[in-house]
Amino acid sequence: MTSTTEIPASEDPSTASLAVEKLAADHLVLDPAAVALLFTQARTANAFSDEPVSRDQLRAITELAKWPPTSANINPLRITFVTTPEGRARLLPLISEGNRAKTESAPVVAILAVDVDFHDRLPQLFPARPEMRDVFTGDPERRAEVARFNGALQTAYFILAVRAAGLAAGPMAGFDAAGVDAEFFPDRSYRSILVVNIGKPGANPWFPRLPRLDHDDYVDYL
Ligand SMILES: Cc1cc2nc3c(=O)[nH]c(=O)nc-3n(C[C@H](O)[C@H](O)[C@H](O)COP(=O)(O)O)c2cc1C
Repeated sequence: MTSTTEIPASEDPSTASLAVEKLAADHLVLDPAAVALLFTQARTANAFSDEPVSRDQLRAITELAKWPPTSANINPLRITFVTTPEGRARLLPLISEGNRAKTESAPVVAILAVDVDFHDRLPQLFPARPEMRDVFTGDPERRAEVARFNGALQTAYFILAVRAAGLAAGPMAGFDAAGVDAEFFPDRSYRSILVVNIGKPGANPWFPRLPRLDHDDYVDYL
């Protein structure tokens, strides 16, 4: 089965996103402004303005991001917001050189980590089957894998929640994860998986919009 609306990958990405907005307006229930804010017009920012981000905004973001699903409701994501000059000074040397200037400009930087001992919370989070905790107890390798997979899902939810606050996110895998864990989580079972700059876009914040795959290149209907 082929799509009824053709959006060739080779098309200019901004034109393509307009076509997606039309498709969404015709077939989705989400408000068109929200479609644009969360998906089609939202961009990855590479420079940030000085406009502060409040603790209340951060709380609204985290409270929103915690609702989409994880397997067995394990909720492995742990979030550390770096908001002070002291915190930033500890983080910056651990960020890849090419990512440092943008991280310096962001009013808030989130360290997203997973707790590889998430299973200790399962009696609380999955009360229907508290024995799930014991399934994971003797298997740290499986815990690490399950935590990373579900943590990655939660980082995506987090990025969308940042966008829902009218803020731009700049996710970065370019950082020294072992160094971050040693610096920020020496006594905790946390493993950092992503660092995300958060704020209003600053001067020249965007790289050119990159294309996405054509529908038929990544979707099959059986
Ligand atoms: C998991 C992840 C890791 C990323 N790591 C980096 C990074 O280290 N440095 C960087 O400049 N951009 C990084 N990016 C940004 C992507 O290149 C960017 O989101 C993508 O090209 C889409 O850009 P757009 O949102 O403006 O369309 C990362 C994005 C994600 C989701």
